[in-house]
Order: sequence, then C-alpha cells, then structure tokens
Amino acid sequence: MKLLIIGSGGREHALVWKLAQSPHVTQLWCAPGNAGIALERLARNGAPVECVNLGAEELPQLLAFAEEKQADLTVVGPDNPLALGIVDLFQQHGLRIWGVNQQAARFESSKAFSQMFMEKHGIPTARAWVTNYPQAAKEIAASLGGRCVVKADGLALGKGVLICANQTEAGKAVDEIMVRKAFGTAGARVVIQEFLEGVEISLHALCDGQTAKLFPTSQDHKRALDGDLGLNTGGMGTYSPTPYLSETQLADTARKILDPFMRGCVAEGIDYRGILYPGVMLTKDGPKVLEFNARFGDPETQVYLTRLENDLVELLDASVSGTLGNTELQWSPLASVCVVMASGGYPGSYAKGKVISGLAAANGLPNTKVFHAGTATSGDQIVTNGGRVLGVTALGRDLSAAQAAAYAAVEQIRFDGAMFRHDIAAKALPK
Ligand code: AMP
Ligand code: GLY
Repeated sequence: MKLLIIGSGGREHALVWKLAQSPHVTQLWCAPGNAGIALERLARNGAPVECVNLGAEELPQLLAFAEEKQADLTVVGPDNPLALGIVDLFQQHGLRIWGVNQQAARFESSKAFSQMFMEKHGIPTARAWVTNYPQAAKEIAASLGGRCVVKADGLALGKGVLICANQTEAGKAVDEIMVRKAFGTAGARVVIQEFLEGVEISLHALCDGQTAKLFPTSQDHKRALDGDLGLNTGGMGTYSPTPYLSETQLADTARKILDPFMRGCVAEGIDYRGILYPGVMLTKDGPKVLEFNARFGDPETQVYLTRLENDLVELLDASVSGTLGNTELQWSPLASVCVVMASGGYPGSYAKGKVISGLAAANGLPNTKVFHAGTATSGDQIVTNGGRVLGVTALGRDLSAAQAAAYAAVEQIRFDGAMFRHDIAAKALPK
C-alpha cells in the first residue's frame, strides 16, 4: 500500500514511525513532515519516507498529490484539515482517507455543539450554558459565584479556555473572548462550564461509525512548568497507563461515555470514523467529559503508539471500512513516558534554528524513541523549528522505569534554550 500522512508534529512522527513498521506499506509520503520523519524507513523494503513540501491546510494541492501518486490511504493528523473538510473532499474524488469528516469534526470545532450533544444524549459532563451575549455570559458566571470555565466556541489553537476563580476573573474572561475578540470569530459564542475538581485524564477510542474501541488511559501535562505551574501549552509530556482507573472502572467509563456517544451519532446521522479523544475529569461523582477532540492527541499518540502491538495500517483501514468490530486492540504491558523538549520561551515567543545534538545517542538507548515535532534540517545538522521540538519517549516495565529511561535519553540531548518538565508521570508514582 502507498500511504500519505498529513501533518508535521510529534503526533505525525509517531504515526509515520508506527505505520512504516507495517508489512503492508510499500511507499510513504508525509506532508509536510519534519526532520525526524524524513529519517524513517519502511520495514518492508527499507525505502525512505519522503517528506513533501505541502502544508496540512493546502487541501486542493494535497488532493492533487494523492491522486497523482495513487495513494491507497491518506491519514490525517491535525484538527484543522479535518475541520476544513479534507475527508469529504478526498471521498468526493473517490480516494480512501482516514479521519473524521467535516460534520464529525464539529465535536472539536464547536464546543457549543459538543456540549449540546452531550446533554441531549446523556453523556456525563460539567453543567454548562451556551450564549452569544456578553451580559448573559457574565450573569451565568455570577450564578456560579464566578468559579467557572469560559470557553470560546470555535477552534482557538487550544488557547480559548479561561479558568476563573471569581467574578472579576470571569468578567475579564468574557470581555477578552467576546468583546476584545482575542480569538476572533471563535469567541462569538461561549460555553460556560462549572469548574470541576478531580484528576484529568485523556481517553482515546478508535471509531468506525458503529463501534468504538477504547485505548488504555493516558495523562497529559498541559502547563509549561514543573508542578503544573506556568502557562497552558499544547502538552509537555504524557504517560500511559495511568493508575487512576481499574480495568472495571475503565470499562464502566466506556459504557457511560462511548456507548451514548456512538448511539447519539447514529441517531443524528453523524458518521464518526476516526479517533474520538475525550478530555475527562475524574470527579468524586464519576468521570465527566470536559471536551471532545476529533483526532489523536499530541503527545498522547507518542505513548499510545509505542505501546500498541497491532498493525496500525490494519486498524485504520478497519476504521475506514467499518469493520473494527472484528478487531481486538493489543497493548504492550510495558509503560510508556514521553517528555517534551521545547524551545526556551514556549508557549510564548521563541527562537528557531538552534542546533540539536545527542539525538543518535538518545535513540541508541534501549526501548527509547525520540519523536521530532518542531525540527528542520540545515545542511547536515538538525535544528529547532518550533515550540515543541522533541518528544523523548521510552518504555519500561513500570512507570517508574519508563520515566527513568525517558529522562536518561533527555540528558543526552542538547540545544540552546532547551526547556522541559522534570516531573512527567511523577503524580502517578508513589511519593
Ligand atoms: P478544554 O480545551 O476544554 O479541554 O480545556 C482546556 C483545559 O482546561 C482542560 O484540559 C482542563 O485542564 C481545563 N478545564 C476545561 N474545562 C474545565 C472544567 N469544567 N473544570 C475544570 N477544568 C477545566
Ligand atoms: N494533548 C493535548 C491535545 O492533543 O490536544
């Protein structure tokens, strides 16, 4: 099979790395890819993965490329092309593509849509209100004593969520989103949720329109600094599994979230084929969904795919065909930890073009894989080219061993201004 992967981050490097291991794959392109992706080779024939200079949102060009190369399957990483309707476009042209269609992408592209869907179909979530009016938004926040979360309805690069402790903060949040329009039209409407307390985890399920296959749990670390301090980021590190849900509790969570989700989609004529990634708060009243994403998480993918034992091409193919019901997901019993190394200044402004050393030494350690995110090639060197630069991922017999292995690999890697958290997975370990 000939595969085209769309995207350029750590998630896409993990997807490419895993797909390249499949004996089904004879050729693999990634648009636009990154320096690490360009170093991957196919297990079947040793052919190099080819990076193609097309952006993830250049839909007509991507379509033309897939048609010209006769790609058998295109795999979409990021949310934007999904929300722009890349899946619908490829399907209209008779091409096979994995990811959610535009209608299903609304679960991520509109928080108001998701919230209303959850309430209608009995999916446990935070109490919430949706409004287009700043005054009404402030009154709702006041009715919650100001302790709430104000969310811009639309896509805002993961930044349109403001957590408020009191009425003054809530008023400022509403003004920021709805009056100053800090996130543009994404903030024309807001969802205001009650503030939930508990442990936050990531769930992923692979869906085929009828069936949803749940992954083990993982946990991201969204804040920039140790101890969950600093600004919100795209994610500074993950681990899997988490100790927070037993097998039975996980099955119960799937029953409470995934069953009504899939039934609701069928009832509303939404053909959900792709990944469903709910952000879930484990509260004292049980698990509650904070939001839905309609794609693989980044850096969740890095820990999931290092543990996944199935052939990923076969899984994605079954997700497209609607035949996941016949498949069982197989996971390594090993734990996986991913530590993100970022550019100094991230998630604010940062420099690019810093030379990265030690990659070969890190990759040479046992059970270790360095996934590239924001990297580029400059002459014969690999340099930084984004906020999140690398996802240093390692497996271990338990979380503590995986954590030690991931940090041993981090120690091998150097670039000017490198920044990373020192406490990825620490919460899950005995004190
Ligand atoms: P979201 O993009 O909706 O997942 O929100 C971003 C982050 O804000 C989440 O990962 C949570 O840490 C936090 N958050 C969102 N909604 C709530 C809520 N209702 N209560 C507490 N924290 C929340
Ligand atoms: N891990 C955060 C995200 O992918 O949205």
